[in-house]
Amino acid sequence: MTAHAYVGTSWKMNHTLAEADEYAADLRAHAGEIAPSIQPFVIPPFTALDRVARALGDTRVMVGVQNVHWAPAGGWTGEISARMAAEAGAVIAEIGHSERREHFGEMDSTVNRKVHAALAAGLRPLVCVGDPEAEKYRGTAGEFVARQVKHALHGVAPGDLARVMLAYEPVWAIGESGSPATVEEVERIHAVIRGALAEAGGEDGAGVPVLYGGSVNLDNAAELIASPLVDGLFVGRAAWTAAGYRALLARCGAVLGPVAR
Ligand code: PGA
Repeated sequence: MTAHAYVGTSWKMNHTLAEADEYAADLRAHAGEIAPSIQPFVIPPFTALDRVARALGDTRVMVGVQNVHWAPAGGWTGEISARMAAEAGAVIAEIGHSERREHFGEMDSTVNRKVHAALAAGLRPLVCVGDPEAEKYRGTAGEFVARQVKHALHGVAPGDLARVMLAYEPVWAIGESGSPATVEEVERIHAVIRGALAEAGGEDGAGVPVLYGGSVNLDNAAELIASPLVDGLFVGRAAWTAAGYRALLARCGAVLGPVAR
């Protein structure tokens, strides 16, 4: 199967509208330099979604939303439905990031409901899974992550799996206090995830891209993306400036070359 490598970023809770405009304009101006082997994507906060989607509308950059609610509409103060996000220009819905699981009480069951809501609204769910530090040291990271994958995809029809994306983001690797996983650690868990996907969807599961995220930067991006078990990178801090993101795209493009693998 030939497939693009996905290299994208979530801005998390960063960027005013003016900063979002500046980032999107920069990326738009340089979009032609992105290697055809790469599928770029940017996930701004809700407030900037519509304008970033418009600014990047005629480029290859996909735009996503950081969270959606599981219900189609109703009395859910402070929440956004998948349909609202799609209407604002999102094509990807990030679901189950560890910061949402840790600080906002998201559970495997709500992650699963959100996956179904995203699919129903025509979005591609980007499901984040990852082991907390305790699981890593106990040697149970693989089982933990496989369980998260199975819960997240419960009830998803095999035909719909083609629209799902997964990101392995170990909790201990994310953010200021995180340290990046080694390529060996990533490959070991990605292989486990591949197994869980095969169980969930047979051949259809094989088409699900598995990205890595957690302290990806210019020093480790090349080595990670070179792994045949890594289908892409999901980046936070290192891509919060357009220049930083473009540098990462260039680094990955140099490794992958022009042709999708
Ligand atoms: P980071 O964030 O690159 O800043 O560690 C990664 C993520 O949360 O996806």
